[in-house]
Amino acid sequence: MNTIKACIFDLDGVIVDTAVYHYKAWKRLANSLGFDFTEHQNEQLKGVSRVRSLQLILGWGGVTKTEAEQEQLATQKNTWYMEMVNQMKPEEILPGAKEFLKTCRTVGLKTALGSASKNSMTILEKIGITDMFDAVIDGNKVSKAKPDPEVFLAGAQALGVQPEECVVFEDAIAGVEAALAGDMKVVGIGSPDVLKGANLVIKGLDEMTLDKLYKL
Ligand code: BG6
Ligand code: MG
Repeated sequence: MNTIKACIFDLDGVIVDTAVYHYKAWKRLANSLGFDFTEHQNEQLKGVSRVRSLQLILGWGGVTKTEAEQEQLATQKNTWYMEMVNQMKPEEILPGAKEFLKTCRTVGLKTALGSASKNSMTILEKIGITDMFDAVIDGNKVSKAKPDPEVFLAGAQALGVQPEECVVFEDAIAGVEAALAGDMKVVGIGSPDVLKGANLVIKGLDEMTLDKLYKL
């Protein structure tokens, strides 16, 4: 007998490929400060809050900034990031995401968004899927960043289900760890080499089925 009652989805890299926009905006910021970072280093930024991402990047460049300067830099990055987000169209939803959300809702599974992004609502509106979630927990609603499970636990609570009745979909290692720390099952979206510990790893939501979900 399966006990899964809800699916909680990360946003960036799971529903939409905004991970690329984050990377481009951070890279532009680092370059403006006179250094660069690799795609491998970028993996460590996935799922991580804006402030923490900036601190990691400054560390890689060996650059020290005051708190006020850091705030300014984070705002600059977000402006560049939002320039790209504002161009987004519904076609940018990743393959299978909308279909799987619909499937979940058709069979009575609850759905929530669990994202670190403070821009989540804008992105959901841009791609036109706000009404496909029973609850949206984003970076404005939580104070502890992934790998802390706060965002997913808040999602379960908002849906009125127990953590062990939830399956999380995540593309970031920090997110996989957060789900496991919250006592939830987790489906990794990406590579098994990176997403260690996930109960199942698939390349995208187009590979996900109810059969796979109930076998977790
Ligand atoms: C996460 C992304 O979803 O949101 C991170 O994976 C990002 O890369 C974080 O830093 C915060 O996003 P935002 O939109 O609030 O800067
Ligand atoms: Mg993500």
